[in-house]
Amino acid sequence: MNTTQISSLEEYQKLYKESVDSPEKFWKKEAQQFIWFEDFKDVCQWNFNEPNVKWFLEGKTNITYNCLDRHVLERGDQTAILWEPNDESQSVRSFTYDELLDEVCKCANGLKSLGVVKGDRVILYMPMVPELAIAVLACARIGAVHSVVFAGFSAQALADRVDDASAKLIICSDYNNRGAKTIPVKQVVDDAMDLGCNSVESVLVHKNSSNEVNWSDDTDRWWHDVVNDQSPFCPAEEMDSEDMLFILYTSGSTGKPKGVVHTCGGYMVYTCFSFRNVFQYKEGDVYWCTADIGWITGHSYIVYGPLLAGATTMMFEGVPTYPDAGRFWKICEKHKVNQFYTAPTAIRALMAKGDDFPEQYDLSKIKVLGSVGEPINEEAWRWYDEKIGKGKAPIVDTWWQTETGGIMITPLPGITDTKPTFASYPLPGIQPVLVNAEGEILEENDVEGLLCIKHPWPSVLRTTYGDHQRWKDVYFSMFNGMYFTGDGARRDSEGRIRVIGRVDDVINVSGHRMGTAEVENAINEHPAVIESAVVGFPHPIKGQGIYAYVILQGTGDDNIRKEILDVVTKEIGPIAKPDLIQFVDGLPKTRSGKIMRRILRKIACGDVDKLGDVSTLLNPDVVSNIKLDALKL
Ligand code: WTA
Repeated sequence: MNTTQISSLEEYQKLYKESVDSPEKFWKKEAQQFIWFEDFKDVCQWNFNEPNVKWFLEGKTNITYNCLDRHVLERGDQTAILWEPNDESQSVRSFTYDELLDEVCKCANGLKSLGVVKGDRVILYMPMVPELAIAVLACARIGAVHSVVFAGFSAQALADRVDDASAKLIICSDYNNRGAKTIPVKQVVDDAMDLGCNSVESVLVHKNSSNEVNWSDDTDRWWHDVVNDQSPFCPAEEMDSEDMLFILYTSGSTGKPKGVVHTCGGYMVYTCFSFRNVFQYKEGDVYWCTADIGWITGHSYIVYGPLLAGATTMMFEGVPTYPDAGRFWKICEKHKVNQFYTAPTAIRALMAKGDDFPEQYDLSKIKVLGSVGEPINEEAWRWYDEKIGKGKAPIVDTWWQTETGGIMITPLPGITDTKPTFASYPLPGIQPVLVNAEGEILEENDVEGLLCIKHPWPSVLRTTYGDHQRWKDVYFSMFNGMYFTGDGARRDSEGRIRVIGRVDDVINVSGHRMGTAEVENAINEHPAVIESAVVGFPHPIKGQGIYAYVILQGTGDDNIRKEILDVVTKEIGPIAKPDLIQFVDGLPKTRSGKIMRRILRKIACGDVDKLGDVSTLLNPDVVSNIKLDALKL
């Protein structure tokens, strides 16, 4: 028994129609493929105006029971997780479904021994080691709410998230092996503890290197001491469909990152359904998603979706360019990867290293290629198609968001057509619409508009943690009765959708979401900075780069530039460092004092001749200076 796997265009069209005509009937059938400790009653209760969304009401289940226990009888000896180390000379690690269940139960019992109970929040700050996936599942096993923080975030960013979630426990590694570097991880946690984290009772440290770490006997516990001798049996906590499964922090238009909340039942049904269809996973295949579990892609399509579907999912500890730019392709050959899922930024970076790298390896096992996280440009799409897929592996350009929990718009490989740069078609159950600025639905083809979704799907976010009003304001207040994605899109003459990019103050740098306000707040921490404004600009590898306009007390030089970069690294992490910093005397403002980002964006994009009318600004004269100085950068 498993969720439906669509196998033909006719079936897709038929199912899509059914899912729109009677969504409840459609999702009830899919949800019934899972093990429920108690059956759900209503399929869905919703109202996007209030708003309120609930799925599979009063159903009781545990997602790990469906990821692990359910598979043990049928495929206990099959590899569940296959792990490729950063350092090629180290051995590959793998866990069968049997072994993974044991490890998850041991870790779950370890968490219990540290006093973690259902509903407690646990922060995970770890590199891509199998223990990260194990810890995620161990939390879910006992009903603790996991919140994975990408290990590239700074101590301050980590402390902010720990405090927002009032987490009881942090699970981390001692070090992170990344390319030629060994990056301290536990040290960042120590620093975060000095900055806040008052709710934290213990820090569980997984040993991942032979290096020493600082130790605090009050809080710190080694994973091997706490977990290794635990019993491999741990009952799966009975969870209500709408109990919280995890919080994942992501950037929005306003300052503070928000904690996107996903719940147990709907997320389970949707990630499994979407995984099976988008990747057309077949028994025996090896599936590899190169994302980090610190992002939603890793949650849904390294851990939960593949394991729910009984797949073999691969995790890679390292980076695409170590020891050289052939590493991804070498791994594809070594593990006979059948489905490969990565981000356009990685494709562009590897494309720039030349065709010699992929040509050295046997990529013939690849059946499906995936892209996620940002718009893929046509040149990268074609290279991916020709050099990696050899024209035989359909590309699934998957559009979705942290908030949507799973893939929403995508081609289905071998089933629907593909067109470069188009995410194309909605999955069954997904009802995207394009609207104009007034919120009127644009029914015709060949139009551009704002992308909204007009009916809930099982894995839509249920709230923003600790701030329910923000959930309503950000997603449901813009247009009446619809979920607003924050993206602009176009629909071609045949109905395919192409997602163009964010229309709000969020920029997408190497597939990482960054709020401009968040970066500005970090820059403003520098004592010499009076005010700053951050916008995105086109970047050949990263998709978008970060352009910062900064007003200083005194004059700016390269030294101050470096100091500003250091402040941003300290406040957020290296991923938020501006690519360009321009010192300015003033920022263009409206008469009500709002920064005119539209003008700054145009200048950053090099469109200095297309600024339009600036005469209504409070300070039109600053624009000409900014334009002149921009040309010197
Ligand atoms: C962008 C990542 C174009 C989009 C799963 C969205 C895309 C944001 C695509 C969410 C795609 C993601 N084509 N744009 N295939 N996939 N995006 O939350 O702007 O990290 O709103 O989720 O990435 O980023 P997030």
